[in-house]
Amino acid sequence: MRQDIERILFTEEQLKGRIAELGAQITADYRDRNPIFVGVLKGCFVFMADLLRCVDVYCTMDFMSVSSYGDGVTSTGAVKITKDLSRDIAGRHVIIVEDILDSGITLSYLKKYLSVRNPASISIVTLLDKPSRRRADISADYSGFEVEDAFVVGYGLDYAEEYRNLPYIGILKSEVYSK
Ligand code: IMP
Ligand code: MG
Repeated sequence: MRQDIERILFTEEQLKGRIAELGAQITADYRDRNPIFVGVLKGCFVFMADLLRCVDVYCTMDFMSVSSYGDGVTSTGAVKITKDLSRDIAGRHVIIVEDILDSGITLSYLKKYLSVRNPASISIVTLLDKPSRRRADISADYSGFEVEDAFVVGYGLDYAEEYRNLPYIGILKSEVYSK
């Protein structure tokens, strides 16, 4: 798979270090608030597993699945919930866990969708943020790294469902998706 990667942006070591910092921040902010982490599948799975092991507060977790992409590299703009939460979130402090905040369409939809269930609060933690591509009025409360406008894969992020298992994050060669 390495031959499909143009350039490595974040190594395993860099990811580990930054995620430990995010975990420490969340630990400090959510002490005694018993938050519920809501992972957005499937992209969140590697990040969430590493992040939550750096969070030292009582908490629970749940997952949702949304689709907005198909197999392309740009969002279709239409968000569909394909798996909803398994428990009620009324009165809970919700922390949405995302792999990447790109146009922001997915997360702004999700935030509105969950807010009608009367949680005590909703915040967003994203591993990557691509602010240059933002189309919806939304920002992350906790963000790992800012990335340039390039299509990235690895560490949970996919192209057409592949590359999620790369242990680092890299820019995908454009010839891979223009084939
Ligand atoms: P948004 O709705 O445009 O913010 O898109 C968010 C979702 O698009 C993310 O959860 C990813 O699944 C996907 N996405 C956006 N940019 C990339 C990328 O560079 N690589 C892989 N997936 C991406
Ligand atoms: Mg995703």
